[in-house]
Amino acid sequence: MSQKVALIFAMEAEARPLIDELGLEYDPTLGDPRLPFKHFRGSLDGRIELLLSLSGKDSRYQVDHIGTEPATLNAYVSLSKFQPDLCINAGTAGGFRSRGCAIGDVFMIDRPCKFHDHRIPIPGFDAYGIGSYPVFAPQEMATALGLKLGGVSTGNSLDYTDVCLEIIEKNEGHVKEMEAAAIAWVASLLKVPFLALKSVTDIVDGEHPTHEEFLRNLDAASRRIREKTLDVLRYLSARPHLLHRS
Ligand code: ADE
Repeated sequence: MSQKVALIFAMEAEARPLIDELGLEYDPTLGDPRLPFKHFRGSLDGRIELLLSLSGKDSRYQVDHIGTEPATLNAYVSLSKFQPDLCINAGTAGGFRSRGCAIGDVFMIDRPCKFHDHRIPIPGFDAYGIGSYPVFAPQEMATALGLKLGGVSTGNSLDYTDVCLEIIEKNEGHVKEMEAAAIAWVASLLKVPFLALKSVTDIVDGEHPTHEEFLRNLDAASRRIREKTLDVLRYLSARPHLLHRS
């Protein structure tokens, strides 16, 4: 197989429809047995070799490891062992109505990934804290597949403060979530092209409490992620020139 793609998800619920559709198989040998990550292997029709990695469950709290620390470590393990041609971080996000988001939209992130909760008001460290990590974002693919284009802002809270909102606005965040910039940072260090797909579960500037809207829409958003991630993989497999190994 000429192309290798790593898919990194935080929650199992977000990835399960895709794992099942592709028939990916759990591979307990890829990772470090001390770490909670779960790795699945397979292919897209024998044409793209796939690794799908989940952040796994916390053994004490019995919930998925969401947020930047597990995502960072999972990305490092997955990308350094599998050495893919592309890393895709797919998952859910809160969207801003003021930037045209609606529940169920799937965004391809087309501008550098940034953080909104790394606030360090010391010259030099301020820009470092926000960060700016590149994305692979073929515009023609987004148009062909009906993906919306926009920015993502990453932080470790489902909710936000007024200062978060100001920074998300400066970051041009159409969506906010909890992993993309962390994985993009690892991908940039390891020189792996990085693509982010985010499906909107809740409207941040809407009238419903985020956690209720998130839980209500998680399954539907995860099916949208399956659909659009498959579309992206098929698009790339038909155009191998878009990804070439260094
Ligand atoms: N994931 C889904 N919705 C989110 C939100 N509103 N904030 C952070 N991460 C999310």
